[in-house]
Amino acid sequence: MNLAIMVHGGAKEIYADEAETHKAGCLQATQAGWDVLARGGSALDAVEAAVRVLEDDPTFNAGFGSELNSAGEVEMCAALMDGASLGAGGVGAIQGVRHPITVARRVLEDEPTLLVSHGARRFAETHGAELCDPAQMVSEGKRREWERKRAAGQRSGHDTVGCVALDRDGNLAAGTSTGGTNTNPPGRLGDSPLPGCGLYADGTLGACSMTGDGESIARVVLAKTAVDLLDGGRHPDEAAQRAMDVLRERVDGRAGCILIDTAGRIGWAHNEPNIAVAYRTSAMDAPHAFVHKCEEQREGSSEHAA
Ligand code: GLY
Repeated sequence: MNLAIMVHGGAKEIYADEAETHKAGCLQATQAGWDVLARGGSALDAVEAAVRVLEDDPTFNAGFGSELNSAGEVEMCAALMDGASLGAGGVGAIQGVRHPITVARRVLEDEPTLLVSHGARRFAETHGAELCDPAQMVSEGKRREWERKRAAGQRSGHDTVGCVALDRDGNLAAGTSTGGTNTNPPGRLGDSPLPGCGLYADGTLGACSMTGDGESIARVVLAKTAVDLLDGGRHPDEAAQRAMDVLRERVDGRAGCILIDTAGRIGWAHNEPNIAVAYRTSAMDAPHAFVHKCEEQREGSSEHAA
């Protein structure tokens, strides 16, 4: 059976001097997930392992790198979906946990649902998740950026992190994690923890993780739309591009998406200036990382097929 994993570190403008950090973080996350798959672990375990790496890296808007909301606090959203059972577990607007994706995993295992705010934190407490003072999740870089953008009246992008994977038993999983945006009112839920919107996994078709403008993505249920576009054997690259077209045509939204199908073929597309991604399939000796689709096309990567 083919193995495959793909991660993203968010769709946004990535300046030339930021590209290497983004690629390095995505490569590290992909390798962490790949190691799980290669030793026979499940797609869910691989996705969780990869997203935890991204949540620890302040380069990315998730976990420790989360944007601060309009009140200057970190609130995080994350979800995991299992393609075999269509089960999904998620947390929204949670504070004071190290790894929202792991809390989402525990929710999925306990009783697939979406828990928010204090209820989510209470669940994390009673289910052995790593807790911390909410202030400890505010990175110095994001604090400075928040102050600068606030003073200039600027909005941050909707970057988010995510992962999709196929394991040796043919199971698919998707995960997404985010810190939202610096203009979030406290309590806002974007697309990221909502099955069908920020992520989707259907064992008969494929799995998808989104990044982008949460309100637009939710209005066209974009992750499910992208997965449905795999029907009939459409290549994930084409399905991802068609999903971006739907978003632009129907709600004029901005986003990026990663997709994997049941054969382990991967695909991605974006209509934000950049998206950081990395992937590895059974056909590859090491993961590859990119910050723009054109970069991959220039390199003529033919390793999409697992
Ligand atoms: N896609 C992340 C958000 O809008 O919250």
